[in-house]
Amino acid sequence: MSDETLSNLLHENRTFEPPATLAKNANAQPDMYEDAKKDRLGFWDKQADRLTWDTRWTQTLDWSKAPFAKWFVGGKLNVAYNCVDRHVENGLGSRVAFHFEGEPGDTQTITYAQLQDRVKKAANALISLNVGKGDRVAIYMPMIPEAVVAMLACARVGAIHSVVFGGFSAEALRSRIDDAQAKLVITADGQNRRGSAMPLKPAVDEAVAQTPSVEKVLVVKRTGGEVSWGDKDVWWHELVDGQSTSHKPEAFDAEQPLFILYTSGTTGQPKGILHTSGGYLTQAAFTHFNVFDLKPENDIYWCTADIGWVTGHSYIVYGPLANGATQVIYEGTPDTPHKGRFWEIIEKYGVTIFYTAPTAIRTFMKWGKEFPDKHNLKTLRVLGSVGEPINPEAWMWYREVIGGNNCPIVDTWWQTETGAIMISPLPGVTACKPGSAMRPLPGIGAEIFDEEANAVGNGHGGYLVLTEPWPAMLRGIWGDEERFRETYWSRFAGKYFAGDGAKWDEDGAIWLLGRVDDVMNISGHRISTTEVESALVSHPAIAEAAVVGASDETTGQGIVAFVILRSGSEDGEGLVKQLRDHVAKEIGPIAKPRQIMVVPELPKTRSGKIMRRLLRDVAENRSMGDATTLADPTVMNLISQGLASGKSED
Ligand code: WTA
Repeated sequence: MSDETLSNLLHENRTFEPPATLAKNANAQPDMYEDAKKDRLGFWDKQADRLTWDTRWTQTLDWSKAPFAKWFVGGKLNVAYNCVDRHVENGLGSRVAFHFEGEPGDTQTITYAQLQDRVKKAANALISLNVGKGDRVAIYMPMIPEAVVAMLACARVGAIHSVVFGGFSAEALRSRIDDAQAKLVITADGQNRRGSAMPLKPAVDEAVAQTPSVEKVLVVKRTGGEVSWGDKDVWWHELVDGQSTSHKPEAFDAEQPLFILYTSGTTGQPKGILHTSGGYLTQAAFTHFNVFDLKPENDIYWCTADIGWVTGHSYIVYGPLANGATQVIYEGTPDTPHKGRFWEIIEKYGVTIFYTAPTAIRTFMKWGKEFPDKHNLKTLRVLGSVGEPINPEAWMWYREVIGGNNCPIVDTWWQTETGAIMISPLPGVTACKPGSAMRPLPGIGAEIFDEEANAVGNGHGGYLVLTEPWPAMLRGIWGDEERFRETYWSRFAGKYFAGDGAKWDEDGAIWLLGRVDDVMNISGHRISTTEVESALVSHPAIAEAAVVGASDETTGQGIVAFVILRSGSEDGEGLVKQLRDHVAKEIGPIAKPRQIMVVPELPKTRSGKIMRRLLRDVAENRSMGDATTLADPTVMNLISQGLASGKSED
């Protein structure tokens, strides 16, 4: 990690105590830290008791085959039963599970009893398609209730879902279906985005044509209009709606795989992060209840994430539903039909807990406070942030403009791999500093190491590691045991290396400093430099490419690409646009480079490694750092000159 990353951390002295009434009534009280410290496994046993188990576990943790953990060994439960049925059995059938708001303004109110019927019907539909325990199901859907129903139906029958973000391309979908050998794809004809219907089905058709493992494609009609139809295609309303609402959930082993979720690593090939049932649901429910101080009978909770990301899995589907929460779920973008849509929704439903991403907050700041100011946001009492470090100005704006200076902000650090929140304030306990995730939650062990695996003290920075296994931890990378060991467990023997830099401040609060590997964070989404480089090099005009994440005011980082043309290719009109479109086709629009520069050479060390640090300097318009290890020191002059002429900028 460069010193520069560490030194750009400003000194922050402001702290904000929790509001007194919230503190007094908070679900999590200060003694929780002590409790967990005294008996960590006993603490997690207690949290697992939040769930309803068919068979109780006999051992809390089996770490004898590290890094492959088993939690709640011998326990059996059904995840969907825990998220839905048990609430109905407890007399809460008429409680609203979801207030759904479609982008065009259509709405649905779904109670727990109705959700139960919908999940049972969908489970019966899966069974009719011969989908059962251990089968993989790819879900490629918009933010509509059927997406949640599809996930829960898989969980109910023991099938493993792999949700692929609806913004990913056909090629990205194809590779994920193929890696997991999915048998079924659940999708929709299209989704409403920015006021128009965007098709989804054509990407599925393209992917499925190349993935023989897929037997059927189940299609929700969302936007209407023409879709091409093949013999594998089945309409959701034709198959699911007529199913019986009786289905008995089977109890599965605590370690039954629940889902695979692909995320970018440092190579071009996305990793299928594997999560299982009992431990995952325990920690998702525990964190949702305590970090957001959920009062299920009163709160209206809204997490703006998409179900295509882990935040949607843990904090729209599994955590909140296991806790019997009432939620808002919104299909569209925040500026449709106007830039106040989010605030209008908060006012309309009386949202009390709001969880979003720093990139969104910075966008709202840019749009101006006149949009939130038009709406009554007084119902809000807890605010959350996730996905990337939140800069102190954005934190303060969130606090003042959205929270009316009256809501604790929980800045929650975690990852697809961790499954649930790991480092975060507790809203009724922690005095928060703007921009800090503060400290590990009770039951979680985190340290900051230097290069030699020594824990650094207060005031120092290094690599963030997790020192103890945790219930929601990933159980591996789908089909690649070696990569799992290598990626997470080899940098510091026996400890989980998160890939993030972090620092303890003088008071022992943790500040996250961004990735230390070749993974970029674009609007809170992980994209690897290698993935974008491979996409660029797969274009016939490109010989070589180097990609860096350059800091960006709104998106956190922006993708900047340096490309070398193949001989005979011309840096003509339209090449940059072609390349950007090509990346969108290979990966998805979120991976489109912000800027592409055609260069004659790339800076390399004598051993041939691209010196991204220097490229980052160029991309961020900084004077160049130390270039003494460059094989050819004139290269950077050439690159800078090209940049100054601006000829290949997009
Ligand atoms: C980053 C998202 C700082 C971090 C839940 C991590 C954060 C990666 C925070 C995981 C935060 C997430 N402060 N950085 N509060 N939350 N990150 O897998 O770099 O999509 O490693 O999971 O996002 O991204 P992922």
